[in-house]
Amino acid sequence: MLENDEFWDFYWEIRLQAMENLGKREAVLAASRLVRQISQQNGQPVRILELGCGEGQVIGTLIDAHTALCDTQIVVGVDYNAHSLAQCQHDFPGLYCINGNFTDPDLLTRLGNYDLVLLVNALHEVFSAEISPELEELNILPAKQHVEEALAGAVSCLVPGGWLVLFDGLEPAGDPADLLQIRFQDLQVWNEFEIFASQYQPFRISYRKLETPMNIEISRRNFTRYITKSIFLAKLLWQTERLESYQYFSLDEFRAAFARQGLEIIELRSLTINIDKWRHKVEILSPDEDFPDEHVLILARKI
Ligand SMILES: C[S@@+](CC[C@H](N)C(=O)[O-])C[C@H]1O[C@@H](n2cnc3c(N)ncnc32)[C@H](O)[C@@H]1O
Repeated sequence: MLENDEFWDFYWEIRLQAMENLGKREAVLAASRLVRQISQQNGQPVRILELGCGEGQVIGTLIDAHTALCDTQIVVGVDYNAHSLAQCQHDFPGLYCINGNFTDPDLLTRLGNYDLVLLVNALHEVFSAEISPELEELNILPAKQHVEEALAGAVSCLVPGGWLVLFDGLEPAGDPADLLQIRFQDLQVWNEFEIFASQYQPFRISYRKLETPMNIEISRRNFTRYITKSIFLAKLLWQTERLESYQYFSLDEFRAAFARQGLEIIELRSLTINIDKWRHKVEILSPDEDFPDEHVLILARKI
């Protein structure tokens, strides 16, 4: 069978149906293209590493599709959540799983070198781990520094010319302090927003109530933090989601951090997955304002 791009487009359309509403679907598609490209260029099996692999939905799905192109001895997922890793090992027995902290330099040294390293929805957790008990919110500068150190660690696992795929949350464009006026679509959404504002841990969320009930003024930054968490409010997942900030770098900060780590960005896309769900919750009243792009996908090469 000729496994051309058309074949793979069709394969992924079927295979990724369950991930239809998840942004990481884009990371799988991008990584699949890269696996095929690297295999063709190098003429040898591709070595892949995912840092923060969780249950393996990304790397496991990838090796299921590309077993013939990968060096199955050197396809590795790392995570420090034993429960997720056990699920990963169960669902994808062909994947070599390591229980460890990917910010640990000793572990990174032991991991060796790879043609492709994946960081999918992982670095925002490194950022969010930096909650300061004194500030009772995130200590931003050390948190950003730890993200950059983790990025440097990922790069250290790449062979020269190797590829990094990063998919994660995104600080909004424009001045984050700019104010937006918004209206909640109903009382339940308004109540959920108040829960968000009082329970979201990474940053204090301030806003101003307007005269009309359920209308508020809020900074673009805080609005982005709210709207990207809004789909978890009133769900069990909120208890973990309230502890994590998806946003840590703007596009410019990603560009600068990648350049400092000797990565050449080949493709960079910002994207939004949940805008239709958001429209059911909130209307933006400020003219010429729209919902933010919530995610970034970056494909970069180690120079
Ligand atoms: C949001 S999940 C994403 C999982 C997977 N990449 C995916 O997209 O399906 C983030 C994962 O990163 C793991 N993680 C975060 N920081 C880590 C660290 N420093 N070392 C190892 N794993 C980490 C968490 O345990 C979690 O399983």
